[in-house]
Amino acid sequence: MNDLISKAIQMMKMSRAPYSSYSVGAAIKIDEEIIIGGCNIENASYPLSICAERTALFSAIAQGYNQFKAMAVATKNGGTPCGACRQVIWELCGDIPIYICDSDGIINETTSRALLPAPFEKNHL
Ligand code: THU
Repeated sequence: MNDLISKAIQMMKMSRAPYSSYSVGAAIKIDEEIIIGGCNIENASYPLSICAERTALFSAIAQGYNQFKAMAVATKNGGTPCGACRQVIWELCGDIPIYICDSDGIINETTSRALLPAPFEKNHL
Protein backbone atom coordinates (compact mmCIF):
# COMPACT_ATOMS: atom_id res chain seq x y z
CA MET A 1 0.00 0.00 0.00
CA ASN A 2 1.52 3.33 -0.89
CA ASP A 3 2.29 6.07 1.63
CA LEU A 4 -0.51 8.40 0.54
CA ILE A 5 -3.18 5.76 1.02
CA SER A 6 -1.80 4.54 4.33
CA LYS A 7 -1.68 8.13 5.60
CA ALA A 8 -5.36 8.67 4.73
CA ILE A 9 -6.31 5.44 6.52
CA GLN A 10 -4.18 6.38 9.51
CA MET A 11 -5.84 9.82 9.67
CA MET A 12 -9.27 8.21 10.24
CA LYS A 13 -8.04 7.57 13.79
CA MET A 14 -7.59 11.32 14.35
CA SER A 15 -11.21 12.06 13.37
CA ARG A 16 -13.43 13.94 15.83
CA ALA A 17 -16.89 12.69 14.89
CA PRO A 18 -19.02 12.46 18.08
CA TYR A 19 -22.25 13.29 16.20
CA SER A 20 -22.07 11.22 13.03
CA SER A 21 -19.59 8.57 14.21
CA TYR A 22 -18.37 8.64 10.60
CA SER A 23 -14.59 8.92 10.60
CA VAL A 24 -12.92 10.34 7.52
CA GLY A 25 -9.19 10.57 6.86
CA ALA A 26 -7.54 12.41 4.00
CA ALA A 27 -3.99 12.84 2.77
CA ILE A 28 -2.56 15.20 0.17
CA LYS A 29 0.69 14.51 -1.61
CA ILE A 30 3.06 17.45 -2.02
CA ASP A 31 6.04 15.53 -3.41
CA GLU A 32 7.85 12.22 -2.95
CA GLU A 33 8.81 13.15 0.64
CA ILE A 34 5.91 15.21 1.93
CA ILE A 35 2.34 14.12 2.64
CA ILE A 36 -0.05 16.19 4.76
CA GLY A 37 -2.98 14.54 6.54
CA GLY A 38 -6.41 15.72 7.65
CA CYS A 39 -9.50 14.37 9.38
CA ASN A 40 -13.09 15.47 9.84
CA ILE A 41 -13.66 17.63 12.92
CA GLU A 42 -17.28 17.98 14.04
CA ASN A 43 -18.87 20.66 16.22
CA ALA A 44 -22.10 20.73 18.28
CA SER A 45 -23.09 23.58 15.96
CA TYR A 46 -23.10 21.13 13.05
CA PRO A 47 -22.39 23.49 10.13
CA LEU A 48 -19.14 24.53 11.79
CA SER A 49 -17.77 21.03 11.27
CA ILE A 50 -15.12 20.54 8.61
CA CYS A 51 -14.44 17.64 6.31
CA ALA A 52 -11.18 15.69 6.25
CA GLU A 53 -10.31 16.78 2.71
CA ARG A 54 -10.51 20.48 3.54
CA THR A 55 -8.65 19.98 6.82
CA ALA A 56 -5.79 18.36 4.89
CA LEU A 57 -5.70 21.01 2.18
CA PHE A 58 -6.01 24.00 4.53
CA SER A 59 -3.34 22.54 6.77
CA ALA A 60 -1.03 22.11 3.78
CA ILE A 61 -1.65 25.70 2.64
CA ALA A 62 -0.99 26.95 6.18
CA GLN A 63 2.33 25.09 6.11
CA GLY A 64 3.34 26.91 2.94
CA TYR A 65 2.48 24.36 0.24
CA ASN A 66 0.40 25.27 -2.79
CA GLN A 67 1.18 22.57 -5.36
CA PHE A 68 -0.59 19.26 -4.91
CA LYS A 69 -0.04 16.00 -6.75
CA ALA A 70 -2.73 13.59 -5.51
CA MET A 71 -5.24 13.05 -2.71
CA ALA A 72 -6.46 9.96 -0.86
CA VAL A 73 -9.67 9.83 1.16
CA ALA A 74 -10.47 6.97 3.54
CA THR A 75 -13.70 5.94 5.24
CA LYS A 76 -15.11 2.65 6.53
CA ASN A 77 -17.15 2.19 3.36
CA GLY A 78 -15.45 4.07 0.53
CA GLY A 79 -17.41 7.32 0.79
CA THR A 80 -16.52 9.94 -1.81
CA PRO A 81 -15.80 13.66 -1.24
CA CYS A 82 -18.82 15.91 -0.68
CA GLY A 83 -19.71 18.66 -3.16
CA ALA A 84 -18.12 21.43 -1.09
CA CYS A 85 -14.84 19.53 -0.91
CA ARG A 86 -14.93 18.80 -4.65
CA GLN A 87 -15.14 22.54 -5.29
CA VAL A 88 -12.24 23.30 -2.92
CA ILE A 89 -10.10 20.44 -4.27
CA TRP A 90 -10.64 21.66 -7.82
CA GLU A 91 -9.70 25.25 -7.04
CA LEU A 92 -6.63 24.43 -4.95
CA CYS A 93 -5.35 21.38 -6.81
CA GLY A 94 -6.64 21.48 -10.37
CA ASP A 95 -6.96 18.08 -12.02
CA ILE A 96 -5.27 15.53 -9.76
CA PRO A 97 -5.82 11.83 -9.07
CA ILE A 98 -8.12 11.09 -6.14
CA TYR A 99 -7.86 7.68 -4.48
CA ILE A 100 -11.04 6.56 -2.72
CA CYS A 101 -10.23 4.09 0.05
CA ASP A 102 -11.75 2.05 2.82
CA SER A 103 -9.87 0.85 5.88
CA ASP A 104 -8.23 -1.95 3.87
CA GLY A 105 -6.88 0.15 0.98
CA ILE A 106 -7.82 1.67 -2.34
CA ILE A 107 -11.20 0.79 -3.83
CA ASN A 108 -11.47 3.34 -6.63
CA GLU A 109 -9.25 5.81 -8.47
CA THR A 110 -10.80 8.92 -9.95
CA THR A 111 -9.81 12.55 -10.63
CA SER A 112 -10.86 15.94 -9.30
CA ARG A 113 -12.10 16.76 -12.82
CA ALA A 114 -14.31 13.67 -12.98
CA LEU A 115 -15.72 14.43 -9.52
CA LEU A 116 -16.65 18.00 -10.48
CA PRO A 117 -17.42 18.20 -14.21
CA ALA A 118 -18.74 21.78 -14.26
CA PRO A 119 -16.88 23.71 -11.55
CA PHE A 120 -17.59 27.30 -10.55
CA GLU A 121 -14.32 29.14 -11.18
CA LYS A 122 -12.75 32.54 -10.63
CA ASN A 123 -13.27 33.51 -14.26
CA HIS A 124 -17.02 33.39 -13.61
CA LEU A 125 -16.70 36.30 -11.21
N1 THU B 1 -17.20 14.19 5.69
C1 THU B 1 -15.91 14.37 5.31
O1 THU B 1 -15.01 14.49 6.15
N2 THU B 1 -15.63 14.42 3.98
C2 THU B 1 -16.58 14.33 3.01
O2 THU B 1 -16.28 14.57 1.85
C3 THU B 1 -17.93 13.89 3.34
C4 THU B 1 -18.31 14.05 4.77
C5 THU B 1 -17.52 14.15 7.12
C6 THU B 1 -18.31 15.34 7.59
C7 THU B 1 -18.97 14.78 8.83
O3 THU B 1 -18.06 14.94 9.92
C8 THU B 1 -19.12 13.30 8.54
O4 THU B 1 -18.27 13.02 7.44
C9 THU B 1 -20.53 12.89 8.21
O5 THU B 1 -21.08 13.69 7.22
